[in-house]
Amino acid sequence: MDTSERKDTVHLRGVHTFVLRSGRMTEAQKRDYAVHSARWCLPFQETIINYTDIFENTAPVTMEIGFGMGKATAIIAAQNPDRNYLGVEVHRAGVGRLLGEIEKRGLTNVRIVEHDALEVLECMIPDGSLAAFHVFFPDPWPKKRHHKRRLMIRPRTDLLARKLAPGGYVYMATDWEPYGEEAYIELTATPGLSSAYEGFAPRQAWRPETRFEQKGKASNHEIYELMFVKRAES
Ligand SMILES: C[S@@+](CC[C@H](N)C(=O)[O-])C[C@H]1O[C@@H](n2cnc3c(N)ncnc32)[C@H](O)[C@@H]1O
Repeated sequence: MDTSERKDTVHLRGVHTFVLRSGRMTEAQKRDYAVHSARWCLPFQETIINYTDIFENTAPVTMEIGFGMGKATAIIAAQNPDRNYLGVEVHRAGVGRLLGEIEKRGLTNVRIVEHDALEVLECMIPDGSLAAFHVFFPDPWPKKRHHKRRLMIRPRTDLLARKLAPGGYVYMATDWEPYGEEAYIELTATPGLSSAYEGFAPRQAWRPETRFEQKGKASNHEIYELMFVKRAES
């Protein structure tokens, strides 16, 4: 597959799953970004990375796509020092915020890539290598003409499945019921993946509440959780 073909597959012909916000950064986020990004951020590259070189251990690696301000990322990483977390986000203020949390909590098991996660997956991540994907409250793109921007639709979910190790999982939470339902159908249709539950997953106690979850709850939205596992034979 050449580069243009690859981008067409993942981006559904150049359609991105995000809009880059010009969002201002706080002074603390700017300072943390300036001081700490060289230590904890990996530059986007067009070649496959080696987790052992990056994390300096062989622990399993979970990728979180769209960590926002990284609150949940930092809490989960602190609670699981025997696992590694690769957070991917395009929003620089969020990167600055997570860098601040990494330093404050003394975390050594988090790395950040400030780039489109789909390109990161295509270019940097070995097939069959990730223990999990965490996708907390992805942009719901509620208007019909925007549905093609959703992250959890094929062929994007095929790419996620390809990057998972056998037994690995894709976990998603959303407060937008129609997106939850569509994602369930798309993930069910994705080769190699099976739902761990009949229908939506029960509340996963390990996931801390996120900023967007708080917003959803403030609007009286229910939370829908999906847990799909990569079958060992695939
Ligand atoms: C609705 S916010 C949710 C943030 C956070 N997970 C939470 O629950 O509070 C979705 C985030 O995903 C990011 N995002 C969307 N598509 C992305 C992609 N392809 N690569 C990296 N980040 C992405 C957006 O920039 C945004 O910050």
